[in-house]
Amino acid sequence: MHTLLVTGGAGFIGANFVRSHLDLNPSARMVVMDQLTYAGNLANLDGLAAAHPGFRFVRGDVAERADVEAAFDAADGGVDAVVHFAAESHVDRSIDDATPFVRTNVLGTQVLLDVARRRGVGRFLQVSTDEVYGSLGTTDQGVDESAPLRPNSPYAASKAGSDCLARSYFHTFQVPVVITRCSNNYGPYQFPEKFIPLFITNAFEGMPLPLYGDGRHVRDWLHVRDHCAALEVVLKRGRIGEIYNIGGRCERANIDIARAVCRATGREESLIQLVADRPGHDRRYALDTTKIERELSWRPSRGIEQDLDELVRWYEEHRAWWMAIKSGDYRHYYEKMYGVRLATAKDR
Ligand code: NAD
Ligand code: DAU
Repeated sequence: MHTLLVTGGAGFIGANFVRSHLDLNPSARMVVMDQLTYAGNLANLDGLAAAHPGFRFVRGDVAERADVEAAFDAADGGVDAVVHFAAESHVDRSIDDATPFVRTNVLGTQVLLDVARRRGVGRFLQVSTDEVYGSLGTTDQGVDESAPLRPNSPYAASKAGSDCLARSYFHTFQVPVVITRCSNNYGPYQFPEKFIPLFITNAFEGMPLPLYGDGRHVRDWLHVRDHCAALEVVLKRGRIGEIYNIGGRCERANIDIARAVCRATGREESLIQLVADRPGHDRRYALDTTKIERELSWRPSRGIEQDLDELVRWYEEHRAWWMAIKSGDYRHYYEKMYGVRLATAKDR
């Protein structure tokens, strides 16, 4: 029996991880701590409290020590492992205002590490991103875990800062940190401001698909269930103090994804519109994932083309979920349903 503290568990990857972990370990004890910012949604965790007696939800801000202490207190008998997803995660928002990114991603990680250090945990899994390595040229080899950090967006810089803090707490205080750096995820419950769910849901509505710049930027795509499976093996068998890259071996240009979305939704490619580029837009990310594949025998299961029809079906079947988010109604709905006031930008 083990107890996990999962931060950011009401967001996209966090909620997928919480669900898959409880599927694998139905009687596990788990505290999910989430501030429920615009990106956090209790609907992503629907049904779990009733199905799993060991599941607790605590609303709190990782940058507030008292909130973090309360989350640890909610785990009767202590926390065996922290899985730290909580973050501001959208690059465009970080370009608009970097302040909440520094507060949550840098300060929040430091506060969480500090409390974990004082309380004592068996493992601290810092969930990070390939964006900390910066942009690659078209013919460059994928980077391995020893590559220097060259973050280009305020988001990536704040994640690099959090990785450095995690590393320092391992080195200085022996907090049992493991860092993972993953490529672009797709899957259910992804907030529809991100590329793939934005394009799928816009396509449903016959709205333009705004492709940044020349549309030739390259991302490496991985299904969120494969990311969660990788986190499970790192949690169990990853070596303390190490970094593990997690990638899909599935590099695609954005224009090709946009076309594939048109095909999967039955829409004309004329919906795709080239728009102004993202400032500082990274051209290409690519990872060398040999370490996790050799050491922990993890591999991605499928490519994005095989998954896209299923993903489009999920967004079709969960129209109420994303329409409520897109219209902002989910705030009012959840405040009424759960009696909580959801955080707004003004709260930050
Ligand atoms: P998300 O934006 O969907 O979810 C983030 C969650 O964190 C939300 O539930 C939000 O309410 C919560 N949160 C934000 N600030 C908080 C705070 N101060 N205190 C407590 N909770 C807070 O993000 P995601 O896409 O699920 O990403 C999760 C993690 O994985 C992030 O750390 C991100 O950097 C990393 N990551 C994401 C991807 C990707 O493709 N989405 C890839 C690699 C790594
Ligand atoms: O690489 C991992 C990272 O992937 C994570 O760390 C981030 O949290 C996650 O948001 C994601 O960052 P990206 O910036 O790569 O993802 P995004 O979905 O915003 O954009 C993917 C690509 O699509 C990128 O090249 C920009 C482009 N894009 C995006 C949007 C929202 C468009 O062309 N049009 C759009 O409207």
